Amino acid sequence: MRQTVTDQELIREAMEARKMAYTPYSHFQVGAALLTAGGKVYRGCNIENAGYTPSNCAERTAFFKAVSQGEREFTAIAIVAGKEGEELIHTAPCGVCRQVMMEFCEPETFRILLASSPEDYEEWTLERMLPLGFGPKNLA
Ligand code: THU
Repeated sequence: MRQTVTDQELIREAMEARKMAYTPYSHFQVGAALLTAGGKVYRGCNIENAGYTPSNCAERTAFFKAVSQGEREFTAIAIVAGKEGEELIHTAPCGVCRQVMMEFCEPETFRILLASSPEDYEEWTLERMLPLGFGPKNLA
């Protein structure tokens, strides 16, 4: 039977993921929890690099973990972010991460939760966050 994961649970997963953030340069720590259509959750954190550009965002870490495990269908992602030791602030994904979402998610239905706690979050769709996005359908 398919397990249902609540928004609150998904946000808690993102908060756990954020604890693994590797951020010696920005000290800005991000956690993401990506929900598959089958009800599994993949966590991701940002991972920085002394070379700066090889750094990876939390959202893409979660997507690449999931896709590399054979997942292709996703319904939601929760994101939490904030400076190390400071309170969480609603933070939207960068443009590169939105484009990665566009590759694997239905823009009209994929939900993006920007959270500062399990109770305090705003909900977006990918379509609203990346209007007129270019995706696989454009090449079909
Ligand atoms: N970052 C993310 O992980 N996700 C976002 O949505 C925005 C930015 C990371 C990248 C970098 O490690 C740090 O936050 C500062 O940009």
